[in-house]
Amino acid sequence: MTKHGLFVAVESRCEVVVFVMMVASECAPVAQAGGLGEVVQGLSRDEMRELADHFAAQKPAPQNFKADPAKAVLGKKKADETLCTMCHLGGFAGQNEIPRVAGQHYDYIVRQLRDFKARKRTNDAGNMTSVSNTLSDADIENLAHYIVGL
Ligand code: HEC
Repeated sequence: MTKHGLFVAVESRCEVVVFVMMVASECAPVAQAGGLGEVVQGLSRDEMRELADHFAAQKPAPQNFKADPAKAVLGKKKADETLCTMCHLGGFAGQNEIPRVAGQHYDYIVRQLRDFKARKRTNDAGNMTSVSNTLSDADIENLAHYIVGL
């Protein structure tokens, strides 16, 4: 479950429950959830709640990635230009079903943005696909350097 550096620990308990239930009810394709999908299939509601409590109580893994300040400046510029915070809110704090990205792991952010762009990840109602289409590889890296330090 931590294979892709998932950062579930700091997400709200409700958000974890929702995701687990979406996978369990096949609203979110199991293939997209990777290892998590396989684990979640066949869980009872109580087991899902226990799982959510477990993750909600975790502390985020320490980050040893050092962001490049020059790239972070470019990333902030791109984020402002692309209106990322219109959905993710200021400081990428997240709201409702729009995830918090602040302080997320560098590799995870880069991977998600590339996957949205390549349409390998599609559980965003198209929002991130259209956003990520406007981003170059360098933009994606710069954005990740910026967001990691939030
Ligand atoms: C129009 C609204 C919208 C805009 C603008 C937007 N996002 Fe998103 N973003 C979303 C939604 C919706 C999701 C996925 C929700 C889900 O998975 O259920 C998402 C997911 C993400 C994720 C994956 C988070 C995770 O936990 O897996 C990253 C990273 C991300 N956005 C970064 C950005 C960046 C960087 C920008 C600006 C370049 C941006 N977003 C602009 C709506 C938006």
